[in-house]
Amino acid sequence: MIRKAIFMQTITVPLGERSYPIHIERGLLAKTGEMIRENLGDIAVAVVSDDHVAPLYMEEVVSSMEKVGLRVCSIVLPHGEQTKCLKSLETLYAFLCEHHLTRKDAIVALGGGVIGDLAGLAAATYLRGVHFVQLPTTLLAQVDSSVGGKVAVNHPRGKNLLGAFYQPELVLIDCDTLRTLDARQVGAGLGEVIKYGCIADEALFEKIERLGSREALAPELDEIIARCCAIKARYVHEDPHDHGVRMQLNFGHTLAHALENTMGYGVLLHGEAVCIGMVAAAGWGEALGVTPAGTGARIERVLKAYGLPTERDERLTRAHLAAVMALDKKAEGDGVRCVILTEIGACTGVVIESGKLAEML
Ligand code: NAD
Ligand code: GLY
Repeated sequence: MIRKAIFMQTITVPLGERSYPIHIERGLLAKTGEMIRENLGDIAVAVVSDDHVAPLYMEEVVSSMEKVGLRVCSIVLPHGEQTKCLKSLETLYAFLCEHHLTRKDAIVALGGGVIGDLAGLAAATYLRGVHFVQLPTTLLAQVDSSVGGKVAVNHPRGKNLLGAFYQPELVLIDCDTLRTLDARQVGAGLGEVIKYGCIADEALFEKIERLGSREALAPELDEIIARCCAIKARYVHEDPHDHGVRMQLNFGHTLAHALENTMGYGVLLHGEAVCIGMVAAAGWGEALGVTPAGTGARIERVLKAYGLPTERDERLTRAHLAAVMALDKKAEGDGVRCVILTEIGACTGVVIESGKLAEML
């Protein structure tokens, strides 16, 4: 029997003095303590998690820290997007004060993007900034939200309205954690993985296309996650504060944000909305003559093979979606800046006039 070699990879996010490693390895959670000690020294650590993730992984993480003599405290918040709010941030500040965390200590986020974004904002602001470590446990967090330093909470007036750029100093990705993640959440992460192929890595897209199912892809997942992290690291290096090329990561997001906004957050998972948005954006690109004909159909076939949504609810009217898109953060004058594929694996930003966008919906 040929056994697949154990996958271990380290990717650096190159940001000069603020560069940091992303380590990818199965079973890595058990080494959290030694990795933190090695990278950040003999410090105190506050682990933040949610009530789905903590029962599965908190004990392992905390005992790995205790084993190497780190002082550790932990807090468990309710799961879900509603936890990404100012009230949770206040709860975290009170917890950190109570446990006397100082500026040389660290906050560790153990969970998906909700916990990562919230704990990251706490790390950025508590005592004007403490060390921050990401232990992402969803596929979306492993390939996207744990890398790049966007941290935020939501406000009743809008999603991610209150935030900062605050890079972690260490990201530890243990793909074994995905075994307990439900299939729908895995799918949402796969949507983002396919997005990376579309915008920046034709070979990755072709590999996903060739594998053709979640079962066939599973043994390749570590390598695929590493590839996505490497792509994200490149974008973050080139544009850490999201003023230019990093916007390409928003392929499929113009319609996705409008769908989430219209249907209510949580009806479609973000990654699912991105899937529908990518097919639509490929169609816009084809209509504009920028994207080669047939690209949208090809992306749609791949998404369907992985059990991902490709069409929006037909009850959502064009006019309404167009109006919501015109309010998009990327609105420019009478148009909206959209990411359009020039081919699979390459893309560009194009301002599409709002009326034209409505016609193409
Ligand atoms: P999430 O954090 O809500 O996690 C999804 C669900 O899975 C939760 O119920 C969670 O408790 C559970 N879960 C997590 N890991 C698990 C595991 N290993 N086993 C079992 N259950 C597990 O959702 P998400 O998709 O990871 O993140 C979404 C959030 O990320 C949104 O708030 C979004 O705005 C944010 N985000 C941020 C960035 C960024 O750059 N900072 C990028 C993309 C998305
Ligand atoms: N999730 C998009 C970004 O980090 O820019």
